[in-house]
Amino acid sequence: MCLQSGENMGQSGNPPKIIVEPTVEAAVEFVAGLFKTIVCEAASQRSACRMALAGGTTPRALYQRLAEDPSGEQVPWSQVEVFFGDERDVPLDHVESNYRMVQRTLLDHVPIHPMRVHPMRADAEDIEATAAEYERTVRQLVPAGQDGVPCFDLVLLGMGGDGHTASLFPGADALRENQRLVVAYHVPVLGRKRMTVTFPLINAARNVVLLVTGADKAQSVAVLLGPDTEARKALPAAGVNPAAGMLSIVLDAEAARSAGLKAG
Ligand code: 6PG
Repeated sequence: MCLQSGENMGQSGNPPKIIVEPTVEAAVEFVAGLFKTIVCEAASQRSACRMALAGGTTPRALYQRLAEDPSGEQVPWSQVEVFFGDERDVPLDHVESNYRMVQRTLLDHVPIHPMRVHPMRADAEDIEATAAEYERTVRQLVPAGQDGVPCFDLVLLGMGGDGHTASLFPGADALRENQRLVVAYHVPVLGRKRMTVTFPLINAARNVVLLVTGADKAQSVAVLLGPDTEARKALPAAGVNPAAGMLSIVLDAEAARSAGLKAG
């Protein structure tokens, strides 16, 4: 059942919301509630909710929590369209695939039509051409805002200990990409290729949710939220800055500790 959202979702000029929860479970619960509100608002206002989901390990618990709504009573899954923020250069059924993780923890358990799920094929022979093809798909299926950039209702992101987000890693040329919305490149620190959305696409979204938990992220969170603008420039996640949308940074106490932020 959709709760009517009284919030002005995605109104311009919103300063980032920083939410600190005492535990990972509480942070996940908060994001699950925000996810449902965003989907319901998009479904009621635009008859569809287009989202780009994160990979890695942090969002697993969130996807498992959302999967506890198999009948779609709380989330109108039939109106949801799923894209991905990034993908590893592995087949979709590989244990490292972000698509596989989202499929097994969430998509296999909710009533979403497979035609409305769009995996990134980062295992393609020509990954750069496939990235361009993915961008075309996003442009076809996700209505653009006034700037002509497709406007996701929700982009869900995580952050690595080095401050990367999606697959935008420190020092990568992709951090400065201001035309292409999806790129693929060799990530030296991984020795592998990745496909990823770029900041022009992330920052065009109505809602961006950055879910970061764990003590191993505390130092990067402290830089992200701290006063040192020079240090922040080296942190890819600092490039998440929706032009007109709402950014929610959801932390557990461990991740927030070095930033001097407390839960509650
Ligand atoms: C990926 C993710 C990546 C992730 C961060 C944090 O492909 O790994 O999309 O951007 O969000 O690496 O990863 P954890 O949640 O595993 O710490």
